[in-house]
Amino acid sequence: MGNDALLVLDKVCKSFGPVQVIDEVTVEVHAGKVSVLLGENGAGKSTLIKMIAGVHEPDAGRILMDGKAVKIPNTKASEALGIATIHQELNLVPSMTIAENITLGRVPRKFGIINRRAMRQIARDAMDKLGLKLDVDTPVGELGLAQQQLVEIAKALSLDARVLILDEPTAALTKSEIAHLFSVVNTLKAQGVGMVFISHHLDEIAEIGDFVNVLRDGKFIATVPADTEENELVRLMVGRDIDAQFPRVATEPGEQPLLSVKNLSDGMLKDISLEVRPGEVVALAGLMGAGRTELIRAIAGADKYSSGSVAVNGKKLASFDVAAATRAGIGHVPEDRKTQGLVLDASVAENIGYATMASTAKSGLVDRKGQKARAQQVAERLRIRMGSIDAPIRSLSGGNQQKAVFGRWFTAGAKVLLLDEPTRGVDVGAKVEIYELINEITASGGCVLMASSELPEVLGMSDRVLVMSQGRIAGELATEEATQDAIMSLAVSNVHREEEMGTK
Ligand SMILES: Nc1ncnc2c1ncn2[C@@H]1O[C@H](COP(=O)(O)OP(=O)(O)OP(=O)(O)O)[C@@H](O)[C@H]1O
Ligand SMILES: [Mg+2]
Repeated sequence: MGNDALLVLDKVCKSFGPVQVIDEVTVEVHAGKVSVLLGENGAGKSTLIKMIAGVHEPDAGRILMDGKAVKIPNTKASEALGIATIHQELNLVPSMTIAENITLGRVPRKFGIINRRAMRQIARDAMDKLGLKLDVDTPVGELGLAQQQLVEIAKALSLDARVLILDEPTAALTKSEIAHLFSVVNTLKAQGVGMVFISHHLDEIAEIGDFVNVLRDGKFIATVPADTEENELVRLMVGRDIDAQFPRVATEPGEQPLLSVKNLSDGMLKDISLEVRPGEVVALAGLMGAGRTELIRAIAGADKYSSGSVAVNGKKLASFDVAAATRAGIGHVPEDRKTQGLVLDASVAENIGYATMASTAKSGLVDRKGQKARAQQVAERLRIRMGSIDAPIRSLSGGNQQKAVFGRWFTAGAKVLLLDEPTRGVDVGAKVEIYELINEITASGGCVLMASSELPEVLGMSDRVLVMSQGRIAGELATEEATQDAIMSLAVSNVHREEEMGTK
């Protein structure tokens, strides 16, 4: 590709303490092209782009912009060079409005006073680019994860950058939102913006990418065209073959329901009744906003409900009581691991051990040695990449944090696993490991209720599908009959607006 590159990371290195995370990697960004970064969880993708975003400085190597060496010591310097970054973990301030977040650090002023009108206008223009119709005065904390992600994208777009970095921007989006984002990316391509795109969805790579840079263990492996066959991409990225993508081993379900929800209502949830028997994996499908996350949170005790009941093994649980739910054997992998699932400054071992702390305490003392050994075991099974089991969970890559939340409930021996988008941000190999643990849970008499927007995952891993629409269960399908069309027609059964279901 030669020396016409807009931006080059030239043999950059980065270590955290004794661990070398990036080892002499060279990657180019070209005007009007999308350069994909592909690699397993923990391969070093986010660390690499953080060197361009001004979050980390390389220990060795150079960054060239228009052929000249540049230093990018902070985010301001990055923005000044015309680089905008959409980070994997959202960076918005929940208490501030959409408009305040989008203009953060460059608030328009008139005679020294904040010009709110101009601020709103900048935000609205950015939102229009994505076809978003949210009120820009809404506090970001009131938005769901997907909407927050879209605001983050709008914020980056409003910078009119020459280089745009997208670190897993599609992880929380539906198919129609992704289509919208990709049309924006194509427009930017035509305008000569150079982009870096990270995604664990291989089909997106072929759709939007130009070429793919593969990383493995912090090392550069190869640059290949974006239309390279998926199997070949996986082989380059993982360095081994992946067995069956969806290894569901169905179990003959037990007679009595393990989880039963009766006439549960609250706010948007309307009269929900469902049962999951031991050995079953039941998927919750539906459009974004159908109430899947709300239902899972209510069952998990994370939110209150005003009427109805939740029972495990026939024993009713109190509403809004996570501790009681945990004691009854419920495990909850929430949608947003960063704010709901993890204690970021605690170690990997502690985060995995939280749910078992009380039950394994010896004469009131936490059994730290046992906790660590069990955490180590599950971390190995899930191939959690970390400096050590004592490292703060904050230092793990996004996908590895997700694996840790899942590992916690597996270690705790949860009997009723409530999963909300369990494999979001998880690489192809680690997905299979998670699915195998799901099989073990059902084989040993547990059950799983799983909200997923990924149709292949719903079809590949569930025994039955419940489709939600506007806070109700609109219908049930056996997995064999759950085609995209069948799910959609139930999902929109009360809905007047047209939207697609995510089939990433
Ligand atoms: N601040 C830090 N301190 C210590 N280790 C870190 C830090 N940031 C990243 N790492 C380590 O660097 C490695 C690469 O992490 P990185 O976030 O770049 O992975 P990634 O390829 O983006 O993975 P994912 O697909 O899960 O997002 C991981 O092993 C991670 O634990
Ligand atoms: Mg990452």
